[in-house]
Amino acid sequence: MKALITAGGRGTRLRPITHTENKHLIPIANKPMIHYAIEAVISAGICEIGVVVNPETEKEIKTALGDGRRWGAHISYILQEKPAGLAHAVQSAQDFIKKDPFVFYLGDNVIVGGIQQFVKAFHDSRSNGHFVLSRVKDPQRFGVAELKDGRIIGIKEKPRKPKTPFAVTGIYIYDEHIFEAIRVIKPSRRGELEISDANQYLIEHGFTVTYSEVTGWWKDTGQPEDLLEANRFVLDQIVESPSGPTVLGMVDAKSDLRGKVIIEKGAKIIHSQIRGPAIIGKGTIIDHSYIGPYTAVSEDCVIRNSELEYSIILERCRITDIDVRIEKSLLGREVVLYQGKIRPRTQKFITGDQSQIELS
Ligand code: G1P
Repeated sequence: MKALITAGGRGTRLRPITHTENKHLIPIANKPMIHYAIEAVISAGICEIGVVVNPETEKEIKTALGDGRRWGAHISYILQEKPAGLAHAVQSAQDFIKKDPFVFYLGDNVIVGGIQQFVKAFHDSRSNGHFVLSRVKDPQRFGVAELKDGRIIGIKEKPRKPKTPFAVTGIYIYDEHIFEAIRVIKPSRRGELEISDANQYLIEHGFTVTYSEVTGWWKDTGQPEDLLEANRFVLDQIVESPSGPTVLGMVDAKSDLRGKVIIEKGAKIIHSQIRGPAIIGKGTIIDHSYIGPYTAVSEDCVIRNSELEYSIILERCRITDIDVRIEKSLLGREVVLYQGKIRPRTQKFITGDQSQIELS
């Protein structure tokens, strides 16, 4: 069995972060998002992995993932020349997949609880296509499955009036017949070969199509709030050891760490309170500050005299002397937030395109 993981796309809904960072490399709990996809397929026993890149993302994704050796896997790269849809991404990988069954995994999907059970269900039911469904509040954002008597009888891409609350998540398992479906389908109104149309073809042409429901937790990280939620769930999975937080850096005697907390190598916690789940990256300094639940601070940041909670902070940010608590925030790299000392006290901003700032 093989796996095909997507790492293309422009991530327009995640701007401004995605102006300078590939969406799939944005960290969730201090680990690039796409690593979760790679680790999930490897845990399901799959070591032959194809990663679909586009001309803009190819270089940075290759640099970030390498040849897969560090996971004991083998990663091949498949270039999707144009953004012509997910089914087109699968089609671009036909030479890599050959006639093997494969997991098609959208690299911006984060799932807690692994995918082994879905791979097993695919094999046990001798399916041609196996889908993973999740009950959601806003099915119109997704491919939506129509079910009858425990069977999938239809899949529609982003229907205006969804017939069920079951979103088709970005984890699909196929045998070679998917290539036949993709050869036949036509581009949708937005000009893409839709994976939902290929799935609908399988259903309509008598192939065995089965499904599983997500038992753990799943998120398509399309929007900033989704990233914060994914971060929250992944941090919640930190296992609390009976001996307390995992401290690989330095914590002084005046600091207090509670709950699921990881302090990475070289990080320094000085006179600060940390309430987990939280992770503090390598070389970061937390000084006279409060770090609240569901916060991930990446490497080499400085947080001084400030309070932070339910946020993702990327590398080399500096937050100093901010006298309101920062929460629900996503800061890109090298962002500087500080309290001005000179009167009159005014707000000053130097922000990039499409930044969002909410003042209290
Ligand atoms: C894609 C698929 C959609 C699926 C979703 C899951 O949508 O087209 O059917 O439900 O991924 O993440 P996109 O995120 O590209 O809008």
